[in-house]
Amino acid sequence: MNIIVCKDYDDMSKKAADLVISNMVEKPQIKLGLATGSTPIGLYQNLIKASDEGEISFRYARSVNLDEYVGIDPTNDQSYQYFMNENLFNHVKFDEGATKLPHAPEADEKYCKEYDAYLDEFGQRDIQILGIGPNGHLAFNEPSDKLNRRTSIVKLSEETIEANSRFFESREDVPKYAISMGMADVFNAKTLILLASGKNKHEAVKRLIEEDTIYPGLPASFLTLHPNAYVFVDEDAYRG
Ligand code: PGA
Repeated sequence: MNIIVCKDYDDMSKKAADLVISNMVEKPQIKLGLATGSTPIGLYQNLIKASDEGEISFRYARSVNLDEYVGIDPTNDQSYQYFMNENLFNHVKFDEGATKLPHAPEADEKYCKEYDAYLDEFGQRDIQILGIGPNGHLAFNEPSDKLNRRTSIVKLSEETIEANSRFFESREDVPKYAISMGMADVFNAKTLILLASGKNKHEAVKRLIEEDTIYPGLPASFLTLHPNAYVFVDEDAYRG
């Protein structure tokens, strides 16, 4: 696991974006795994800029996303589909149908099977972007005594509901369930890029870096098994 300590959020976003950009220049038909949340926004802004300046093109790229709330319409401004449209897809030229998020109108496993089938067809990603929850979750794989290998409907932990409530009018409005890629698929990428910014991520980052163990109580700890994982952290997340 490569740990890159960055000065601040902008530095982290730029350094992580540079790694994505160099991969995109090398392989225009790149397969990307994308993430939502506030952390990757700066990285996406750097990609948009590189695309505007003609350094990279999304014409032959394809993408899949990690997760989505259950029971939320893709046009709802709290949906992850809306987030991706606003923060990346509306600003770069992916081909029609080249981007995909899981979608589950209700908590039914059939939507998980559909997404698994899509991921199987999609194949290994070149890059997977990841955030980390304050509790060490990856996508919506929450700390637990066991982790799902493949796409599942997950009940959000109280900590995650609390952390995500800042995007909603009230805590009660935060959906209680999500559809999330499982751990086997999260890691099915040649390169993993995890981003962590801010003091509220310090505890999770510290445990990830310092604890020399792998356990489902810290889903991010499995990152240490991946042969090509990069962790970009800003000073606040690194030092607390
Ligand atoms: P955040 O979410 O980027 O909004 O902090 C990250 C995560 O929960 O994985």
